[in-house]
Amino acid sequence: MIVTCIAPVNIAVIKYWGKRDEELILPLNDSISATLNTDQMHAKTTIMASPSFKEDRMWLNGREVPMDSPRIQNCLKEMVARAERAGAVRYSSLAACRLRVCSENNFPTAAGLASSAAGYACLVFTLAKLFGLEGDISGIARLGSGSACRSVLGGFVRWHKGSAADGCDSVASQVVPASHWPELRILILVVNDAQKATGSSVGMKTTVETSELLKLRVAECVPARVDSITEAIREKDFRKFGELTMKDSNQLHAVCLDSFPPLFYMNSVSHAIVNFVHLYNATDLQVAYTFDAGPNACLFVLEENLPRLVATINHVFPPGNNSTKYFQGIPVAVPHINEDVLKLGMEPKEAGSLKYIISTRLGAGPHEVPDHLLTTAGEPRSATT
Ligand code: PMV
Repeated sequence: MIVTCIAPVNIAVIKYWGKRDEELILPLNDSISATLNTDQMHAKTTIMASPSFKEDRMWLNGREVPMDSPRIQNCLKEMVARAERAGAVRYSSLAACRLRVCSENNFPTAAGLASSAAGYACLVFTLAKLFGLEGDISGIARLGSGSACRSVLGGFVRWHKGSAADGCDSVASQVVPASHWPELRILILVVNDAQKATGSSVGMKTTVETSELLKLRVAECVPARVDSITEAIREKDFRKFGELTMKDSNQLHAVCLDSFPPLFYMNSVSHAIVNFVHLYNATDLQVAYTFDAGPNACLFVLEENLPRLVATINHVFPPGNNSTKYFQGIPVAVPHINEDVLKLGMEPKEAGSLKYIISTRLGAGPHEVPDHLLTTAGEPRSATT
């Protein structure tokens, strides 16, 4: 038995930051995210099951990695328990088999681009296909990485914090499908930055233990924002959506600064992007930024406003002379920069402040694909070790 699937990256517009249960990965607050299109960015996973394999083995981006990490094991255990309870169609015939898992991202893992969310969502989605397990698997993906539970669905997705002690109601649900807002376009600005940020789990723990501001965020700000942004998304009200998205990103980084010792995820280029967006929006809110636990920006913009935005970004953040293609993903016909943009008074930054830009849109979530990463003998097709 062999199955291959791809799963998307998701970008939160109302952020998850802080756990109430470290083991079960239960969050302190609900969060809402946009699932990105797999055409531009995805994790791809092949899983093969055979009674002739002596042991479970796993490869990640061409290197063999141990499969005994607690998070992977928690996902596997929960998947098996679920398959047994549900009497999943193919599971009984696989019980005596060992697994080979091969996974790759088509975007840099180290770029801080939510690669673990796509990776765990893909692992769990592919396993469910292999076992023939039907139904919601978001609670299983959550055990790999919290935000992964939002990558098993397309469009805009809400992760409900839930209240049950065993986490059974801490699952994701779709707010709207991707087809609801096809005009919404997304740019990922990958910031040139060698520094490795504090991992999200360690960072969240510090914030939960030390930040006063987090209490206010969890009790008051997030619940109100989740309701308002859901309404904005349903009504396709870009200005309201954009304002809430930017405010929530700013508040995530405010609680990081309020942690002790403080956590710095944004850098001077990230701050320049924030200033750029606010200057750009001076007369009309047309662009919204959001930043996760790293310096890269995710920008939301309506399709009709995209060409002018890209022309302005190229002017203010000129490419450096590295070999990576500067503008990747869905092509945009970039017009000449016009006078009104130059009047905004934005000085060009140092060339190469951004490594590259990925142009994408909302996507429909994970799905099965026919081309496998493992040979019929269960060996990775492309391995570095
Ligand atoms: O799921 P984790 O542990 O990678 O945490 C993700 C945290 C943020 O990306 C900063 C916010 C979010 O909601 O995705």
